[in-house]
Amino acid sequence: MTLIDPALLKIRLGALAGRFDVDALAECDSTSSELLRRAERGAPAGTVVVADRQHAGRGRRGRQWLSAPGDSLTFSCLWRFTGPATQLAGLSLAVGVAVSEALEGLGARRVRLKWPNDVLLEQGGDYAKLAGILVELASDRRGTQAVIGIGINLRAPAGDLPQPAAGLADDLPALPDRHDLLAALLGALAGALDRFEGGGFAALQSAWQRRHAWQNQPVRLLQDGVVDGEGICLGADTDGALLVETPVCIKRFLSGDVSLRRA
Ligand code: ATP
Ligand code: BTN
Repeated sequence: MTLIDPALLKIRLGALAGRFDVDALAECDSTSSELLRRAERGAPAGTVVVADRQHAGRGRRGRQWLSAPGDSLTFSCLWRFTGPATQLAGLSLAVGVAVSEALEGLGARRVRLKWPNDVLLEQGGDYAKLAGILVELASDRRGTQAVIGIGINLRAPAGDLPQPAAGLADDLPALPDRHDLLAALLGALAGALDRFEGGGFAALQSAWQRRHAWQNQPVRLLQDGVVDGEGICLGADTDGALLVETPVCIKRFLSGDVSLRRA
């Protein structure tokens, strides 16, 4: 039996129900892999795949995403944009804003964002990863399709992770019903994607900056484990690039392959 009932979700989505077509699976390899296959077969924008269990959940660069049924929410949503993928550099940041807005709407108070694709929970001045966002783009002559994968920990996963993890239960007195949670996330996603389509990441920049975990703090950028830059983190510019002030200049990093760490 699946944990999400699409009929119940439709009721929760209300006026937004027409913008999404949600399929709930008991299990799949990865909701993003499944949605990429469906997109290839012509699935429309607004198609959502949610799964109770993923046996090959993925993060950036093929890293593993851990999730356990009941303790997490894992889903992917297909969106299409006119124009080339180069205009979508800030999309994963825009999705981060949507996730934060949805969780805050449900009462969360300590959600913060880390460039480019992490949603963190502040815990006594430190940060633990609460959710991950994976945006995969493909372009053709009609425009660009984005498969937006989101994984949220309801409870922190058990297991050895290189960085601390947190769950929504660490920031809320009681966990929300998962239909309410998914409806809030899809609603916020629709709003953020509309703003993004209308004005690019610039339309969401201040919302992102307000929640930026490491604003004005010393950071280090790594490429394949090698330090590629160090300085004071100034946050994201209007394109979604990360700005880091070094003693000689302000360096600009595009999402790509760099990893951000607190120095
Ligand atoms: P980067 O800064 O390069 O993005 P990252 O550590 O944020 O590094 P991602 O690829 O964004 O890495 O996210 C995947 C990582 O998240 C995995 O390497 C794993 O350590 C961690 N991870 C996997 N599952 C979970 C989870 N459920 N909650 C928190 N962290 C997780
Ligand atoms: C990251 O932090 O690197 C991103 C993790 C994204 C995980 C979600 S879970 C739903 C979707 N399916 C996947 O395999 N990955 C994304």
